[in-house]
Amino acid sequence: MQPCCGNSVCHVLMLVLCLSAAEDFDWTKNNHGSFYYGTFPTGFSWGAGGSAYQTEGAWDKDGKGLSIWDVFSHKKGKIQLNDTGDSSCESYYKIKDDISLMKEIRLNHYRFSISWPRIIPTGVKSDHVNGKGIQFYDELIDHLLENHITPIVTLYHWDLPQVLQEKYGGWQNISMVNHFNDFANLCFEKFGDRVKHWITFNNPWSMAVEGYETGEHAPGLKLRGTGAYRAAHHIIKAHAKVWHTYDTQWRAKQKGLVGISLSGDWGEPVDISNQKDIEAAERYVQFYLGWFATPIFHGDYPQVMKDFVGRKSVQQGLGTSRLPVFSSQEKSYIKGTCDFLGIGHFTTRYITQRNDPTGRSSNSYFTDRDLAELVDPRWPDPGSEWLYSVPWGFRRLLNFVKTQYGNPMIYVTENGVSEKMMCTELCDEWRIQYYKDYINEMLKAIRDGVNVKGYTAWSLLDKFEWDEGYSERFGLYYVDFRNKNKPRYPKASVQFYKRIISSNGFPNQREVENWRRKAVEMCSSSNQLLAAEEQRSTAANILRLIHDPLTSHMEMVTEIVVPTVCTLSILISAVLLMFLLRRRN
Ligand code: NOJ
Repeated sequence: MQPCCGNSVCHVLMLVLCLSAAEDFDWTKNNHGSFYYGTFPTGFSWGAGGSAYQTEGAWDKDGKGLSIWDVFSHKKGKIQLNDTGDSSCESYYKIKDDISLMKEIRLNHYRFSISWPRIIPTGVKSDHVNGKGIQFYDELIDHLLENHITPIVTLYHWDLPQVLQEKYGGWQNISMVNHFNDFANLCFEKFGDRVKHWITFNNPWSMAVEGYETGEHAPGLKLRGTGAYRAAHHIIKAHAKVWHTYDTQWRAKQKGLVGISLSGDWGEPVDISNQKDIEAAERYVQFYLGWFATPIFHGDYPQVMKDFVGRKSVQQGLGTSRLPVFSSQEKSYIKGTCDFLGIGHFTTRYITQRNDPTGRSSNSYFTDRDLAELVDPRWPDPGSEWLYSVPWGFRRLLNFVKTQYGNPMIYVTENGVSEKMMCTELCDEWRIQYYKDYINEMLKAIRDGVNVKGYTAWSLLDKFEWDEGYSERFGLYYVDFRNKNKPRYPKASVQFYKRIISSNGFPNQREVENWRRKAVEMCSSSNQLLAAEEQRSTAANILRLIHDPLTSHMEMVTEIVVPTVCTLSILISAVLLMFLLRRRN
């Protein structure tokens, strides 16, 4: 979850913003109303993704060790409805099924992550390497390649071995750098003959801020004002070390690339004629993406972070800045450690200057930035609370990367939208709209000269959505989590994305409109199929719950009442539709 302002000041500002937004955005270059018909460069790679803890399940099978997410999700009150990733999509057992889904869309690449404790159960390589874990990833990679799907592999998507957390404090401790390097080295040794695209870390911003500052994510620590900065410092060093390991030991033989996947919302000044807002918006992006990208491309933290955190630390009576410092040796070691930059992008905020009202006593990453985040209430927000659809922000972020970091090679490693719905809904028109508009803004960015080589829809499947459990669905495919077999059903967006891929872009208005219409037509029959299936599993659940004396009121509601009402409404609307169609004929 990402923060957004929720107090009354923000609401007033939101209204003001609402009235002035129309004039704010008639920039000729970035005319966000227009749609661009055209194609992507030849060889552009289309993909979808997921990550180990979010999809694999099999949390305690075949010798896997515990990760911080296994432990965190088993603690009561940390995750929506106390859900866990114990079985999730059971992707551990469904390699072939999932690859058929990817083939159906004709994906060029699939992005997944390796679970560190699945292959090194304690996190320490010299303790034990788990052969069965290696075997699982071997099979996944082999099957992908047999089906002409390129694996893009993330080494760390948040599931640190629990032992490393308990013994050393996880990313608060510098010793993680060497342990992570050993793990990465093992992956290069075992899989590097076939994997040519490596991502060291996924979204370190979230690891640092949500893991060590707000505590919403594992390991759940609330070390305000220092924890996130320290974690980030070690993550950046670990990234650099792994890049050097690949560069010196493997690159000549394996000829692959090593990058990092950074997430970043775009920050747009509320008032583009106000210098303070412009600076605040720039600060927002620098504290987000720049925090990691600037050291990796230029050798040190953004100047604005050093200035702001440094000044506040002095005001708070501290002898040194809460933002750690790189030595000059470290700076040159870190600078340039990126063969490609992964970008995970979902949304945008309006930003205005705001001094921290709590003054000196407050000490946190958020107040260090001296700004307020706002949203336009007209932006669509079909799913996650933080995720507003603002396609033009994507183009701006991509252009920012181009100008700030010397036009690096970019892979979009995550982009997509969720739905937050009690009822099953395969006819996801809003997701079609989101993909259509965001992918179009990426196309415009490529025409601006941004070097984007590939795009990864997030995500292939509905999956465990961290502290939100299963309540937010990002998948192109719907997963029925109540059914033990975790069957997958295509949403309408599958058909639409497939068309974009087969045309390598957007040919013309008539065709694109046809894709949308056909996709939506097809999904209503899948919806009925699913409703019938769900009715069967609801009946089974009713029997189980009636015989279980410990059944809670909440379980009754989520397992019986909601699905029954949903199934009935899908069936009734199907009957009505048939009736209307008959009358029309
Ligand atoms: C970024 C994370 O990397 C990913 O795991 C998550 O599913 C998306 N954000 C959506 O919240």
